[in-house]
Amino acid sequence: MIEVSGLTKRFGDKVIAVQDLSFSAKAGEIYGLLGPNGAGKTTTLRMLATLLKPSSGSLKVAGYDVTTHPEDVRRNIGVVNGGMGLYDRLTGREILEYFAYFYGIGKIDAQKRIKQLEGALEMTDLLDRRSSEYSTGMKQKIVIARAVLHEPAVLILDEATNGLDVVARRAVLEFARAYRSKDRVVLFSTHIMAEAEELCERAAIIDHGRLVAQDSVANLKTQSSANNLEEAFFRLTRSVN
Ligand SMILES: Nc1ncnc2c1ncn2[C@@H]1O[C@H](COP(=O)(O)OP(=O)(O)OP(=O)(O)O)[C@@H](O)[C@H]1O
Ligand SMILES: [Mg+2]
Repeated sequence: MIEVSGLTKRFGDKVIAVQDLSFSAKAGEIYGLLGPNGAGKTTTLRMLATLLKPSSGSLKVAGYDVTTHPEDVRRNIGVVNGGMGLYDRLTGREILEYFAYFYGIGKIDAQKRIKQLEGALEMTDLLDRRSSEYSTGMKQKIVIARAVLHEPAVLILDEATNGLDVVARRAVLEFARAYRSKDRVVLFSTHIMAEAEELCERAAIIDHGRLVAQDSVANLKTQSSANNLEEAFFRLTRSVN
């Protein structure tokens, strides 16, 4: 579902944000992309989402090459990142309707889909209020709903729980778990190891733009004789620094 191969991204002559990175995630899994601040996670995800061009290497999403078939990639991908970008004057429902139109979803299907998401994300009493009145957690629910309106096979969550309280965080994690299915994959990027450990079957750990390890979460722990993923993460990243 996601294939990253020999991926490199340079910014100018000095910064190599991602260097010769390879990993792959299969349908049916929640895959972790883990790394400390500045590791190159967002840069990698932006390339997957066709928002940035790779300097070299290749990326495939749902079988489509990101460089040669960007439209097909966009149809198959939903992205949640830090930037919320909601229109303050619109209600949550209006925002979702607007994006459904944008995705080419017909009115009746859009109503159905919004109804479904209203249930899945517990948005009942917020859809008809203006988004300027929303808390951070409510906003994030709309952002997630917006990212999956077109039911993409690949859902990318980039630090999707940042700034959320314990209830909103739980809702996001539950949604990610429920979204994964036999023909979908969730790519969950974070530096919060407890969340990754709870959610992900397999993960790639990156640091300074390079792959440090890629394996099942269980193997990452045994391989570094760690009790939990955070300890494994420390040991694995320390050994390359
Ligand atoms: N547009 C840009 N121009 C120059 N350097 C950049 C640009 N975008 C990212 N970088 C650099 O690339 C490196 C990787 O950044 P990136 O945002 O991908 O990391 P990250 O793993 O998402 O970190 P965080 O956990 O802080 O979100 C950093 O050193 C960053 O400063
Ligand atoms: Mg980032």
